[in-house]
Amino acid sequence: MRITQFQGDMSRAKTDLIVIGMFEGQKRLQRAAAKVNAALRGGIQRLIQEVKFEGRRDKILMIHTLGRIPAKQVCLLGLGKEEEFTLDRHRRAFARIVQAAREVQARQLITPLLAEGKRGRATADLCRSAAEGIHLGAYRFQKYLKKEETTDLRQVSLLVEGSSISGLAAAIRTGTLAAEATNYTRDLVNEPGNVITPITLAATARKIARQGGMRCKVLSEKEIAKLGMGAYLGVAQGSTNPPRFIHLTYRPRNAKKSIALIGKGITFDSGGLSLKPSEAMATMKMDKSGACTVLGVMQALPKLKPKVAVHGIIAAAENMPSGTAQRPDDIVRAMNGKTIEVLNTDAEGRLTLADALSYAARLKPDCMIDLATLTGACVVALGEYTAGVMGNDSTFIDDFLKTAEKTGELMWPLPFDENMQEKLKSKVADLKNIGNRWGGAITAGMFLREFVDEISWIHIDIAGPAFSEKPWGYNTGGATGIGVRTVLQYLSTL
Ligand code: BES
Ligand code: MN
Ligand code: ZN
Repeated sequence: MRITQFQGDMSRAKTDLIVIGMFEGQKRLQRAAAKVNAALRGGIQRLIQEVKFEGRRDKILMIHTLGRIPAKQVCLLGLGKEEEFTLDRHRRAFARIVQAAREVQARQLITPLLAEGKRGRATADLCRSAAEGIHLGAYRFQKYLKKEETTDLRQVSLLVEGSSISGLAAAIRTGTLAAEATNYTRDLVNEPGNVITPITLAATARKIARQGGMRCKVLSEKEIAKLGMGAYLGVAQGSTNPPRFIHLTYRPRNAKKSIALIGKGITFDSGGLSLKPSEAMATMKMDKSGACTVLGVMQALPKLKPKVAVHGIIAAAENMPSGTAQRPDDIVRAMNGKTIEVLNTDAEGRLTLADALSYAARLKPDCMIDLATLTGACVVALGEYTAGVMGNDSTFIDDFLKTAEKTGELMWPLPFDENMQEKLKSKVADLKNIGNRWGGAITAGMFLREFVDEISWIHIDIAGPAFSEKPWGYNTGGATGIGVRTVLQYLSTL
């Protein structure tokens, strides 16, 4: 998909589709749209009144131009209430446009930025969010489907009146990079567990390193054991697919700071001997989402060039039941020396992360972010669209959440509660790997805190928003790639 800038009169443009946004109760068409209306001798205005098009959000009215102007069709898109129109609404509106274009098989379209002229909003931000909405909304995972004969949307031209082209081109490029990184992550997450195993995930990381000129270290089972990662190995031991520990490094010359990104990389979570019921087990290919978010971010860094060193760390494993699987009651020792009583083998993510975080902390980065589809409890607490954010540094949490507000990725803080620390106490080890029924997302986060060694850290539980069968916003069904855009944006501010 190509996104270009268009300057000129839409009513004279030869294109498949012109899109015109309308707020609820908007009386007059905006300038560019008014010209199209005039060229159609007031036809758009008349039709709006006749069919009572009210500009309700996501409502669409297609108008054929019958050859009266060079454009084949005009699409009126309802934008909802103007006072509620945020940057994320703008992003979502563009995803809706892509969908509408697909329905009428348009190859190419022209549209003005939908909130142009609204006070206090930079056009660069609008260009960026438009680019994101377009690429995110156009995403589909069709690798395993029979090829259909469809006309795909190839080009979106954004009408930008009287603004500096070069600044906007940069904004479009940034938005495109962020969305393409997200789509990269979506593609990886959507691959099933028979395709993405720890070995193929490591091969993917190596490829990313080769293409971006980065370093990539991959540790085998033996090397993992040598480092003393007993918690991680306990999870991996039940599967015939051996584990791989992945460490990618992006290191620009002028870097003053460093950050570690750690992703939960369970390529499939059956629950292990604490087996999941089948309804809960289906979709558990998505339990590698955190890892894939890290990989999506890493592959974008050589293109985005932030001035910070970034470690991408993944303890990849498959959680399976078998004769060699770890048992409930087993006691394991993590790399930082702490012992853990494993009472539920389905609480495996925190066991792999215990070692991944210990390893990351040893690198002494300035800060760390982990992303993990860690708990169903987080989905119960915040719903399926919002990620839970926890950590040991409230300034870091605040800064990160502010960044998330800009990208539109829904994230919300959850508190660590020292009253709950006792739930992690074990009679036979330093810790146990589960709490009780209450506050499961928080006890999981507090468990992870035992392995971060005072380094400034945030934990993002993406169990809810990482995957959704049903499409919503600019998510088109399946993996969403949540986290990629916010982490990338955060890195560019460091
Ligand atoms: N991968 C799951 C968490 C999950 C649940 C992700 C639903 C996405 C959707 C995790 O490994 C898990 O099984 N957690 C258990 C923890 C429990 C045994 C303490 C859970 O949430 O039930
Ligand atoms: Mn599990
Ligand atoms: Zn899991």
